[in-house]
Amino acid sequence: MSKKPLVIAHRGASGYRPEHTLESYRLGAMQGADIIEPDLVMTSDAVLVARHDIYLGSTTDVSDRSEFADRKRRHGVRDEWYVSDFTLEELKTLRCRQPFAGRSATYDGRFAIPTFAEILILLKELRSQINPDLAVYPETKAPAYHRERGLDMAEALVRELTDHGLNNDSGGVLIQSFEPWILQDLRGQTPHLLVQLVGRDSPLTLAQIAHWADGVGPDKRLVSRQYTEVAHGRGLMVHPYTYRQDQLPDGATSMEDELAEALALGIDGFFTDFPDIGRKVVDAQFS
Ligand code: G3P
Ligand code: CA
Repeated sequence: MSKKPLVIAHRGASGYRPEHTLESYRLGAMQGADIIEPDLVMTSDAVLVARHDIYLGSTTDVSDRSEFADRKRRHGVRDEWYVSDFTLEELKTLRCRQPFAGRSATYDGRFAIPTFAEILILLKELRSQINPDLAVYPETKAPAYHRERGLDMAEALVRELTDHGLNNDSGGVLIQSFEPWILQDLRGQTPHLLVQLVGRDSPLTLAQIAHWADGVGPDKRLVSRQYTEVAHGRGLMVHPYTYRQDQLPDGATSMEDELAEALALGIDGFFTDFPDIGRKVVDAQFS
C-alpha cells in the first residue's frame, strides 16, 4: 500500500463541468485522474445511468419541462422527479446542470445524462487517447430503493461489465456502495475490488468491513493515522471523500494543504471534484 495514491475524479471533473456527464469524465482524465467515478441509478426500463442522487431536480432541467410536471412525487420527505419513474428515452431528453452554488454554469443545458454503457465506451476511448491505465469506479446508489422497485443493480452492473469485456481480472474497475449487502452479493459475481463507503455515523467497523470488502471509502473527517494503519492491517485500502477547493473544512486554507495532510496519513487514494489539483499535490509529494 505504499504506491502513489490514486486521484479519483469524483463525478468527473465536477468542479469544472456539470457532474456525471461524459464531458466531465473526459476532463477528469485530461487533468490526470487515475480513475473516473460514476454514481449509478436506474431508469424504469432497468438501464443504469449516472446521477449522484435517485432524483433529478438539482442536476437537470427537469423542473422546466412541462411534459414531466405531473411526474413530480413525494418519496420520504422529498418532493422530486425520480430517475426510476423515467424511461431511458425520456431521461435522454433532459439536460444537465451544475448543482453547486458558486461553480460555473457555462456548460449548463448542453449535455445529456450518460448511461453506464456509454461511460464504458468512453473509458476505452480515454484509455487509447490519454491514459492506458485509466480505471472506472462505479458506485451503486441506493440499491435497496431500486430492489423495492424490481430493479436489480448488481445484475445490471455485472451484465454491462460483461458486455464490455470488463468483468474479468484484467483490473481497472473498482465498485463502491454505502450498502454492504450489495457488495456481499457482488463478491461472487465479479472479480473486481469492492469498496465499502462509510459516513461519519456508520456503525460498521473496519474489522467487519474486511469480511466483504477490499477497501473502505470513509468520510474524510474519519481519517487519522491510526485509521489508515488499522485499515491497512486488515488489508483494506483507504479512499476518503470528498476534497473540494470550494468547500474547505474549518481551519484549512487551501485544498492543496488539506490534501497534503491527508496524504501524509497514508491514504491510498481520494475522491475529488478537482482532479487537476489532486494530481498536482500527489505528484509533488510522491516522486
Ligand atoms: O462515492 C463517495 C462520494 O460520492 C460521497 O459523497 O456527497 O461527497 O458526493 P459526496
Ligand atoms: Ca459517489
